[in-house]
Amino acid sequence: MATKDPHREKIERLRETIRTHEHRYYVLDDPEISDFEFDKLLKELKTQEADHPDLITSDSPTQRVGGKPIEGFVAVQHATPMLSLENAYDESELQDLDQRVREFSTRHSPGYVCELKIDGLSLSLIYENGLLTRGVTRGDGTRGEDVTFNVKTIRSIPLRIKDDLVKKSTRLEVRGEVFFPLNSFNKLNEEREENGEARFSNPRNAAAGTLRTLDPKVVASRKLDIFVYQCFADGRIPFGMHSDTLTWLKRSGFKVNPNWRSCASIQEVIEYCREWESRRDQLSYEIDGVVVKVNSIQLQQDMGATSKFPRWAAAFKFQARQSTTQVKNILVQVGRTGALTPVAELEPVELAGSTISRATLHNEDEIRRLELKIGDFVLIEKGGDVIPKVVKVIENRRPNEARDFVMPDRCPVCSGEVFRPEGEAVRRCVNVRCPAKVKESLLHFSSRKAMKIEGLGDALVDQLVEKGLVKDPADLYGLKLEDLINLERMGKKSSENLLAQIQESKRNEFSRVIFGLGIRHVGERTAQILAQHFGSMERLRQTSKEMLESVFEVGPVVAESIFRFFVNLENFSVIEKLRQAGVNMTLKSVAKRSAELEGKQFVITGKLPGLSREEASALIEQHGGRVTTSVTKKTDFLLAGEDAGSKLDKARALGAPVIDENALRQMLDES
Ligand code: IVH
Repeated sequence: MATKDPHREKIERLRETIRTHEHRYYVLDDPEISDFEFDKLLKELKTQEADHPDLITSDSPTQRVGGKPIEGFVAVQHATPMLSLENAYDESELQDLDQRVREFSTRHSPGYVCELKIDGLSLSLIYENGLLTRGVTRGDGTRGEDVTFNVKTIRSIPLRIKDDLVKKSTRLEVRGEVFFPLNSFNKLNEEREENGEARFSNPRNAAAGTLRTLDPKVVASRKLDIFVYQCFADGRIPFGMHSDTLTWLKRSGFKVNPNWRSCASIQEVIEYCREWESRRDQLSYEIDGVVVKVNSIQLQQDMGATSKFPRWAAAFKFQARQSTTQVKNILVQVGRTGALTPVAELEPVELAGSTISRATLHNEDEIRRLELKIGDFVLIEKGGDVIPKVVKVIENRRPNEARDFVMPDRCPVCSGEVFRPEGEAVRRCVNVRCPAKVKESLLHFSSRKAMKIEGLGDALVDQLVEKGLVKDPADLYGLKLEDLINLERMGKKSSENLLAQIQESKRNEFSRVIFGLGIRHVGERTAQILAQHFGSMERLRQTSKEMLESVFEVGPVVAESIFRFFVNLENFSVIEKLRQAGVNMTLKSVAKRSAELEGKQFVITGKLPGLSREEASALIEQHGGRVTTSVTKKTDFLLAGEDAGSKLDKARALGAPVIDENALRQMLDES
């Protein structure tokens, strides 16, 4: 009898737990544990697998994101062609479908299934013996591209399925529509705009582009999703009714759109179409119609297909979401990150059930690309974004009085300086005190990776800014109990807690303060580099652009952004206020003591890359360690830099661990 491997069992149990939570989160949208707990389980599995690499299997949840980018995609033939659908543009065309169906089914009313027509791209998933082996795009319907690596990153796609049906057939094919959820799509476009990259014009293009990306890590970060709607077992549909297919798919762990409905007559189908045409905006993904399918698989087979479409189905297309109207003016809004966004003020027009009076123009390059003038007639479209956009100018309707739009060179909210970094499309207000930016600045300043003032959430920040209590991050340090206690949802206890946290934050490391200022392009890592290099806010503030550029890992774009930030007078005064409030502005004077290195004896030797000898000593002492001058048996660590001499030899001889600056930092971060 084979003995059970305890590691294998443990790993498999862990995988099962993770699969269950993945399914609850990504398919059912009903998580039972927090993201943090989920990440912990996944990390645990990764560690276990790293210790036992021979036990890694292709269906392990750790195998969703492969290591390296891939070279290209290989063409694959579909076992059964992936057909398209014939469109029905109005109710009479649905009646035509019903007529056609009745010709084949004289005896009884046929029965339909209506599903939402997801605006994405279709995908075929192949499972062999229950394991996902391939993901293929539709391509031309006969041949598609193998995008397995990318498909595996979609967390709502099971990597394996367990079911009797699977046991009875060796090859199972599941088809569905991959799509970009609207919130992920909007976030992606915002990021692209921030980085000066072109926006995706709609979620469908973004999904298509993403599936064809060569780096699965990028795909994983974009959060694609899928709804499945078809299933073949060894080339045949294994159920009598299409509704049974949907029920089985759901039961087997796939994500099926929950809004499908069985309809006994074409009248019910028409009602479903009407209902969803008016409800489409309530969904968190785009749909472009309703797919109507004959429910009986026998009847589907009797009716057959043309070379392009099945005769037993139709796609009811919703009314166009485009319309023409006139641009009355172009206003400039200042977003929460200080981005100046031109917005077209429109002659109000009806579009897909609502009245539209504004459309976004994104940035000045977009206005130039469209060759848009104030007064022009334009084609507008309601797409994935909440605000409709201008598609094009109707040139032959340009009125004589149409005039050019000029982007302002001062912020329309605070009249402060605006700046457009080279290579970027967006102008930004650089004033941290600009009221439009204040809320975002405060949230960033107090965030976990910056000053870590917990309890200062969206709702509270809104109140503080709206009541005029806080105009910039430095004002937080002037808040009093009586300011907070009367705010909504703030009691005495929570107000006191918040004030204590604000006080405590004054002693944060210098790099957190730099990061908290929200200088564009200065993330956590750059803030740490700047803190190390300049040592104090004063030196950082007075530095030249060239000096900044000479810092390792700080490029010209980042240097320009930092320089701009510090020459701004408003920013200068906020920093002064922070200093006066007692916020730590130097690398060395971190007053906080922690116990990561309690009782440990260090000796320092050689030249460290980012710390002076004094700074390193201070850092060790702040964390409870002690620094001595000579290496003895009691020495726990030798912190060694470049050109370390005899101390290094002695430490080695005594067997004391030798660490570098990075290792020291890791000890401090990790414990
Ligand atoms: S069934 C033979 N169901 O629409 C029937 N298609 O215009 C195959 N689509 O290529 C398709 N949602 O990419 C079906 N619930 C749904 C759908 C759907 C979106 C797409 C699919 C198809 C296209 C046809």
